[in-house]
Amino acid sequence: MLSRKPSPQFLYFTLTLFLLLAFIIAIKASEPNPNEDDEDLEGFEELMALDEEEEKREQEGSPSVRSSEAEVLTRAQRIVLELNNDNTKRVIDGNEFVLILGYAPWCARSAELMPQFAEAATALEELGTPLLMAKLDADRYPKAASLLEIKGFPTLLLFVNGTSQVYTGGFSAEEIVIWARKKTGVPVIRISSVSEAQEFLKNYHTFVTGLFEKFEGPDYEEFVKAAISDNEVQFVEVSDIDVAKVLFPDIKDTNHFIGIVKNEPERYTPYGGAFKIDQILQFLEFNKFPLVSKLTELNSARVYSSPLKLQVFFFMEVDAFKNFLEPLQEVARKFKSKIMFIYIDISDENLAKPFLTLFGLEEAENTVVTAFDNRISSKFLLESDLTPDPHQHRRVLHTAPGWYSLSLLQITANTRQ
Ligand SMILES: *[C@@H]1O[C@H](CO)[C@@H](O)[C@H](O)[C@H]1NC(C)=O
Repeated sequence: MLSRKPSPQFLYFTLTLFLLLAFIIAIKASEPNPNEDDEDLEGFEELMALDEEEEKREQEGSPSVRSSEAEVLTRAQRIVLELNNDNTKRVIDGNEFVLILGYAPWCARSAELMPQFAEAATALEELGTPLLMAKLDADRYPKAASLLEIKGFPTLLLFVNGTSQVYTGGFSAEEIVIWARKKTGVPVIRISSVSEAQEFLKNYHTFVTGLFEKFEGPDYEEFVKAAISDNEVQFVEVSDIDVAKVLFPDIKDTNHFIGIVKNEPERYTPYGGAFKIDQILQFLEFNKFPLVSKLTELNSARVYSSPLKLQVFFFMEVDAFKNFLEPLQEVARKFKSKIMFIYIDISDENLAKPFLTLFGLEEAENTVVTAFDNRISSKFLLESDLTPDPHQHRRVLHTAPGWYSLSLLQITANTRQ
């Protein structure tokens, strides 16, 4: 899509977005009062906690959900133990580790999670993880559901020797596997040869690499503690520099190294801080998301709880976004660790509509760009097309405490002089 030389449109877009973001940051700096805008904060919080009943109603009307649900149910049934009112207590009391998915047949989120859960069960079995995966239809077996204290759907619970723990991992198969292994005694995978490293790269796309001359000492211990404490990212440990370079090519010859690897253009990020658990975890928080995240039902809670409180949302059609991703990543790279860039499929009503409603744009079909500053609970709307139109020169940003307008084109012209 992009020729080698960036197109004028791309430059224009980049510049526009820079200005938009610079503007947002300026506003943020000049509007430091966090209490001015409680109403909007409430609106945003409501978005985060979508009403279960409403979801239920919306999802019942969706035929695509139904068919995929039937498909995944048969798939999961083969691998995952089915619980009922009679066997549930026996299963959780009789096993050291049981990971239970409480679901309801009408729930779209459950249907989305089910195949991931089944895939994770297969992978964990192959890895020899001492964990039993089970599922409970809480609609059909309310007695068992109340025994497990399952209230919403889907609910994931880990039972360790009969005592439940809240699930704190991600919701893809890969993330479920990572979390389950961390909680069942394998927080770090050790890789000892180049061929093992190559094999590992086939299965893992995002991970933290630690290079240690010896797997001991205070620095190494902090690394392992961080691996246990983190809930989402697989950690690997290596002691051979040549093996480490398969995982992280730019590694400098050193005895102590930590870096994160991600499956995207911004693939390698070395860690430069002290070998202390808190600092390693903070580095992860700021670096584990891709340059541009796609919002889904399953990752929305993670996105909202990110420490990156400046978030720019692009509501677009899938096809439009395909062409847009690369230039957007360029922009996102410049704002790494400062602003989170999130894409939402505008035709995905459950996800897009609540946000668009905040701006009175629930009927929108074309691209909408919004920004949230969750520290001062302000929202912003870019009231113009991202496609440049030389004759259109008014760009208006709407912010919650008041209205701010500016002509970005004018500023663009001024900046160029
Ligand atoms: C579970 O109980 C067994 C038997 O008492 C014990 O050996 C094991 O360490 C316990 N597991 C955990 C993770 O606490």
